[in-house]
Amino acid sequence: MNTAEQYFQIPSPLHKIHLFNKEVWIKRDDLIHPFVSGNKLRKIFFHAKHAKEDNAQILVSYGGYYSNHLLALAAYGAIGGFQTKGFVKGERPKKINPILKLCMLYGMEIAYLTRGDFANQRQSFGKIGNQYFIPEGGASSLGAKGCQAIVEELPNSFDHIITPVGTGTTLSGILQSVEQKKWETEIHAISVVNDRLGIEKLVKSITTRQYTFYQKLGFQKLNTEELAVVKELVQKSGILLDPIYGAKAMNFLKDAITSGKFKNDETILYIHTGGKTGWFSEKMTNHLMKL
Ligand SMILES: Cc1ncc(COP(=O)(O)O)c(C=O)c1O
Repeated sequence: MNTAEQYFQIPSPLHKIHLFNKEVWIKRDDLIHPFVSGNKLRKIFFHAKHAKEDNAQILVSYGGYYSNHLLALAAYGAIGGFQTKGFVKGERPKKINPILKLCMLYGMEIAYLTRGDFANQRQSFGKIGNQYFIPEGGASSLGAKGCQAIVEELPNSFDHIITPVGTGTTLSGILQSVEQKKWETEIHAISVVNDRLGIEKLVKSITTRQYTFYQKLGFQKLNTEELAVVKELVQKSGILLDPIYGAKAMNFLKDAITSGKFKNDETILYIHTGGKTGWFSEKMTNHLMKL
């Protein structure tokens, strides 16, 4: 991985734990870097590579007030020798939050866009002048290409892979790689957003590999079962999930195992897609306090 490789734990570790009475392997992309973590490095990597090849100096992208993606980009820029600019959805807040402050500490220039302008611009992509635009969340075929590495780094195939889904970019990369390897793995895609058509459209534009789609509604909401799963996992293994994606995908896995969905001898891999700073938004801190 590029000149910045010494800063990232790549390949990310693969940990085996005993969970819900079953052996479960966890791909620890959350350990890649404190902030360029989970699928964030994967989704930024090829955009940054193209930006460097095109001699762009400024990486530009989009996100919300508590965007993991913008923080990852800010840290990546400082490591990789880029200036960075982040467009944030909404008005300039009266008091800046720690995530945006960290972005600025890493050197990111922050600008605010009205919701309308944000919606129009958030998928900007490619080089304009000395700036290279990355769509919000790194969601694109280049982002998916980076996510292929999640599977390429595995030493062997698994019978089941479970991954959380937002835009479907990470899922697409996983599917592409599984297809190339001709694995028969069943991919369980746990969507936390209510946009099945949008996800399917993105995935189809990238790969025809099949997967099983599940919908876990309640974006940015945590129910008591999901909170209990987060607590159980962190107290048993020291592995902390993010509250928005991981909590729901792990809750799916618990239900699947306890309801006997998997055969005894089948191997299971869960993808930890990072995102722990998600706990620091106001909403999620309220949930954290209940744990
Ligand atoms: C922690 C975490 N997990 C999973 C996802 C979903 O990834 P994707 O948008 O590639 O489906 C995201 C969103 O970027 C995320 O922040």
